[in-house]
Amino acid sequence: MKLYIAKSAGFCFGVNRAVDIAVKATQKYKKDLYTLGPIIHNPQTVDFLKGLGIKVKGRIEDIKTGTVIFRSHGVSLEELIKAKKKRLRLIDATCPIVKRAQLFAKYLNKHGYFLLIVGDSKHPEVRAIKSYINDNVKVIENIKGLRNLGPWKKLGIVAQTTQSMSLFKEVINKCLEKAEEIRIFNTICHATSLRQKEAIKIAKKTDCMIVIGGYNSGNTQRLVAICREIQPKTYHIESANDLDERWLKGCNKIGITAGASTPSWVINEVATEIRKMRGKDI
Ligand code: F3S
Repeated sequence: MKLYIAKSAGFCFGVNRAVDIAVKATQKYKKDLYTLGPIIHNPQTVDFLKGLGIKVKGRIEDIKTGTVIFRSHGVSLEELIKAKKKRLRLIDATCPIVKRAQLFAKYLNKHGYFLLIVGDSKHPEVRAIKSYINDNVKVIENIKGLRNLGPWKKLGIVAQTTQSMSLFKEVINKCLEKAEEIRIFNTICHATSLRQKEAIKIAKKTDCMIVIGGYNSGNTQRLVAICREIQPKTYHIESANDLDERWLKGCNKIGITAGASTPSWVINEVATEIRKMRGKDI
């Protein structure tokens, strides 16, 4: 019996940085401190910050005065303009790798390329990237999305930082038939591809995969999908409370991985709970 825990599981550099910025802000500004949307897609961390006095607001309109922290996924141009107009104090916790994707998108747009963003159209990161581009932009969620698009003379492609490499490659391949010139910026974050590669490795050698992370976390959802393709017994949980002993029955090798916004203490709790459930089996 063996329990495999992905080494890369848990907080990535950008999430760590954003949480750090938020904690430091609570030491400096004692009241009227907000994040625009959850700072990261992890309810336990959001609750922890709430305990330090940070309130989550969905819209700039809901903040009258004080300080607003822009989350790791970035902020849209409209939100940025509104926040400036209201003269709120701004703290930018956008991950530098997300910022980089925004810069590449702007560059391609400025130089006359029709822009494709490979990602989830509803995700705040993708919405933010798109907001800086006036026209000539389309979000591609799957290969079918390309069906009625093109042909193009100049085509630029970027990806949501947590996108799966296989879809990104698929879109690029298809676009080769549709464009005369293509400029691609690989904006997929190394932390994401590392987690995906390791998840694949572990899923291949286990009888059951437990993926820990916020139900609203895009990168966790993608880890679930990737693992499930290899190991149908893949379960997505947010915390140890969501574990079901029946899932583990008859499994000799159990794997654990977690999204980039899952704190290590949540991962440790899940591992401890699994060990408890399996007794000295594991
Ligand atoms: Fe940034 Fe990559 Fe994490 S984009 S927020 S370091 S997954």
